[in-house]
Amino acid sequence: MPVPMVGRAAELDELRRAWALVCHGGRGLPAVVTGLPGTGKSTLVSAVLQATEPELVLSGSARVHSPAPYDWLAAVLAAHPRRELPIPPDALSWLVQDPDVPRERYTPEALLRLAVRTVRALVGAGPAVLVVEDLHALDPASLSLVAELAAADLPALLLVTSQPPEAAISPQLTARTMARLAGAPGAVRQHLGALDAAQVGTILEHVYADSEPSPELAEAVWRRTGGNPYRLTELLAVEVTNGPAELAGPANDLTAREREVLGCLAEGMSNKEIARALGISVRTVTVHVSNLLRKTGAASRTAAALWAIQNGGGARATTAS
Ligand SMILES: Nc1ncnc2c1ncn2[C@@H]1O[C@H](COP(=O)(O)OP(=O)(O)OP(=O)(O)O)[C@@H](O)[C@H]1O
Ligand SMILES: [Mg+2]
Repeated sequence: MPVPMVGRAAELDELRRAWALVCHGGRGLPAVVTGLPGTGKSTLVSAVLQATEPELVLSGSARVHSPAPYDWLAAVLAAHPRRELPIPPDALSWLVQDPDVPRERYTPEALLRLAVRTVRALVGAGPAVLVVEDLHALDPASLSLVAELAAADLPALLLVTSQPPEAAISPQLTARTMARLAGAPGAVRQHLGALDAAQVGTILEHVYADSEPSPELAEAVWRRTGGNPYRLTELLAVEVTNGPAELAGPANDLTAREREVLGCLAEGMSNKEIARALGISVRTVTVHVSNLLRKTGAASRTAAALWAIQNGGGARATTAS
């Protein structure tokens, strides 16, 4: 079942407003959306395109395995007719990454100017959305082009997604490019964080509409996934046939010792009693208890005991000595 986009209404609104400015003012605006992997950058971009329905979208992303110069533009050109572009055919061969093109024909500066001219021609009178996905993974020539496009004042929304520069192939260059984008007048800058427990709950309610998932379950799933939408959708895909109870985490995420401690909790034992039963220190018991609270998503030891009873996650103490 498709999961609805949750918790990004403000970001979507801001990007829609930016698009409206581009449409009515005829000027260019960059928008940079950063976030860790799987936080929903691409999802937000799709939502923006769906909400605004621009007639012209030029979209490209990095080729994951071996970035080559002008990957972004090559991806764009692969999807758009290029017969009447105002640049020499051999330069175009360069920009579309034709393998037979003679090397060293253009200086990097000249090629960059031609790349900007190409995009300008493709955008025409606009308005357009230029989507640059995963800036952090782009080749340096594409990064320069993106920075130039931000300054070129095309009638376009330049919508860029990126993981934080630390994750980039060229961290400094990526950071510099982002700074140039964000420094343009009127630029939009957004950072997508993790979803909170309530937002995770909203998604669970949607997926398990029949079984009214509890706030405790939402909390457990939130802890288990760190509120990362990608991890959450993966978990939902795996568990969807099993029903919501499994979402809190399978018992086999626990170590054998944690299961023993959980079994003791289910019998209502205190930490001191558990320590004695398992022949370990009270301090060690405390560590096991806090770990298994985290793993089971239980808010208290009573909740963990209940979880053990419901999920069969506890084991009887076997090593008393
Ligand atoms: N706000 C959200 N609400 C619900 N689901 C979401 C949300 N954002 C993302 N998802 C889901 O999480 C998954 C990952 O999202 P997405 O691919 O957009 O992340 P990303 O930030 O682009 O990741 P990457 O850095 O790997 O490109 C998708 O399956 C998407 O449907
Ligand atoms: Mg993405």
